[in-house]
Amino acid sequence: MALLGVNIDHVATLRQQRRELSPDPVAAALACEKAGADSIVAHLREDRRHIQDHDVARLKRFLRIRFNLEMAIHPEIVDIACRVKPDQVTLVPERRQELTTEGGLDVVRNFKKLKDACAKIACQKIDISLFIDPDKAQVDRTVALGVETIEFHTGMYAKALTSAARVKELKKLVGMSAYARSLGLTVNAGHGLKYDNTLPIAQIPGMHELNIGHSIISRALDVGLKNAVREMRKIARSA
Ligand code: PXP
Repeated sequence: MALLGVNIDHVATLRQQRRELSPDPVAAALACEKAGADSIVAHLREDRRHIQDHDVARLKRFLRIRFNLEMAIHPEIVDIACRVKPDQVTLVPERRQELTTEGGLDVVRNFKKLKDACAKIACQKIDISLFIDPDKAQVDRTVALGVETIEFHTGMYAKALTSAARVKELKKLVGMSAYARSLGLTVNAGHGLKYDNTLPIAQIPGMHELNIGHSIISRALDVGLKNAVREMRKIARSA
């Protein structure tokens, strides 16, 4: 049984398209909370393309479930996190031109930068998760950092064009999850998960939480946000 974190970035994407007040991502987050989401994820990007600073402050103020702030290790954003104190931060790589987070963090290459940022964030008693690819070297360096939670990037699995390629990516996720858990890590997963590809990820032994955004917000156009959350929660829980 996996928990469900709902990423509400794309409610803000729609709002920012017109620089209007609605739709309000915080109101959407509260609806997700009512529908049984276990946490809310919001990504404060350096370019502020969707979630804004005031959204982060209001999410912290109004949410009763866990607030997971997704962010890169830009000094300005690290300062905001330390000031707002979400329950958790998920550190991700960020590139200006990307449509969405394209891959996991390179913990091997960015070890020193991550160590400094993690030390600063941990001082505020904020839990830290690293978004990484299902790769042994990345898992090992995460453990060396002293970080206890990871989120495996499921993008390669979600984008696989053939069932053989999908099975290969799933096997990688299953194997690396077992390895990470054997080292004491809590394992989450996310990116590109939809109503028709989430179950095998939820069924990975010990999978703690799935973080899902685009498919839930899209589904909300058909069935409403609360029903969209309930449907995905059922998949996460049915494992
Ligand atoms: N987890 C992380 C770390 C992400 O960067 C994203 C995308 O913002 C998600 C989960 C959710 O991905 P999706 O919107 O494809 O469900």
